[in-house]
Amino acid sequence: MANLAVVVLAAGMGKRMKSDTAKVLHPVLGRPMLSYVYDAALSLSPKRVVVVVGHGADEVKKVSDSKKLTYVTQTKQLGTGHAASCATEALKNFKGNVVIINGDFPLITPSTLKKFVRQHERKDADLSVLTALLDDPTGYGRIMRGTDGDPIGIVEEKDASREERFIDEINSGTYCVKSSFLWNALKKVNRKNKQGEYYLTDVVGLAHNNSLKINGEVVSDSDEVMGVNDRVELSYVESVLKWRTNENLMRSGVTLIDPETTYISPGIRIGRDTTIYPNTQIYGETQIGRDCTIGPTNWIENTKIGNGVIIKSSCYITNATIKNNISVGPFAHIRPEAKIMDGAKIGNFVEIKKSKIGQGSKVPHLSYIGDADLGKQVNIGAGTITCNYDGVNKHKTIVEDNVFIGSDTMLVAPIKVGKGATTGAGSTISKDVPEGSLAIGRARQTVIKDWKRKPKDKKGK
Ligand code: UD1
Ligand code: CA
Repeated sequence: MANLAVVVLAAGMGKRMKSDTAKVLHPVLGRPMLSYVYDAALSLSPKRVVVVVGHGADEVKKVSDSKKLTYVTQTKQLGTGHAASCATEALKNFKGNVVIINGDFPLITPSTLKKFVRQHERKDADLSVLTALLDDPTGYGRIMRGTDGDPIGIVEEKDASREERFIDEINSGTYCVKSSFLWNALKKVNRKNKQGEYYLTDVVGLAHNNSLKINGEVVSDSDEVMGVNDRVELSYVESVLKWRTNENLMRSGVTLIDPETTYISPGIRIGRDTTIYPNTQIYGETQIGRDCTIGPTNWIENTKIGNGVIIKSSCYITNATIKNNISVGPFAHIRPEAKIMDGAKIGNFVEIKKSKIGQGSKVPHLSYIGDADLGKQVNIGAGTITCNYDGVNKHKTIVEDNVFIGSDTMLVAPIKVGKGATTGAGSTISKDVPEGSLAIGRARQTVIKDWKRKPKDKKGK
């Protein structure tokens, strides 16, 4: 695409969301809706992307770390026309086409946006607007077309006459405008309308008055331009995106037992012959290999999972690494910086935090392993806990290869259990255990023979 800049309008609060969070930050499949708009914008390989921020500006700026983005602030939200004009200064030296898009329509795809700009260039239009034909156009601006079929203006629903409201072609809020016209036109936009706002849509009428070439491009899948104004629309948009994402995964060789209840962020890679059971949510920078079985009812976020991994029912896994041929759960909590190596096993009611579980090692039942480094082929008995916190600081536990930790061992950190050592069940281990030795740290059993229990007290006595 030729010389291009993009302006993203993202300053609005989104009153209809009834939220303390700026609208464009509300997540759709685990990612802020604005991030999808950025994906589409950046796919155009623009020279620059100017984001107009206002409500929640600090948070909005965290959505992307792309070097192409620059931010301008709209201090008062006086309307979309005013928002677009906030980019004037930032783009004053830019000559070419300016694409303006709303930050609140996450279903737009890169291919649709690219096609829109290509048509604008091909037709050498001065202004293009992306439109859609809707069965129910309620709430959107309506496209008015002239006798030659090209758009001549946009009327907002609140300002439209009864007849105009029957128009079923709507404005998506996506425009491509020659910079030579845009900035001057924006200066002429006023707020003489029902909402008392500066409408960006008015530049279409201005272009028509100047006899400029206007192109109205109808999108083929109207879902793509669905704007999110309230939480009902948010949920609809998520269901569309979920279906789109899940369909791609299934076609690439992943079995989803129930796509309806499977939520996966777009862009997450999952290998062939992996099966995902219902009620599973997979978000963030996650990656899952081949031949895995995941779920039902798992939450997996920012986690790298290798091949042949089984994550059984009801596990909560975040910011972890799980290598190959590993079984986890049911009911396991795998926390940030957990690193589970090939062939390991993490069983039920086990919590792992900031710890390495070495190759072939097992933590099968009811354990907390935190700030620990476990070697290869270690066996951790049921109920074992690393006592890693002394109330002020966290301390490290080191368990070397082939260690056998008896059930219900308390490993009081900092501590090191040497290669091949064993701890007796029920031990509190507070001193290092040398290689190959047995450590027992518990009271010796006493047996009192012929012990008679006192007769039980009767009630009321
Ligand atoms: C707008 C269009 C409407 C179109 C619809 C498509 C106008 C006047 N109307 O209406 O024709 O059918 O989008 O979804 O443009 N924003 C700012 N600053 C402001 C106001 C808004 O940055 O002062 C941003 C918002 O954050 C949002 C976008 O602009 O991302 C659209 O604003 P919104 O209030 O949702 O416009 P609509 O009423 O939906
Ligand atoms: Ca909107």
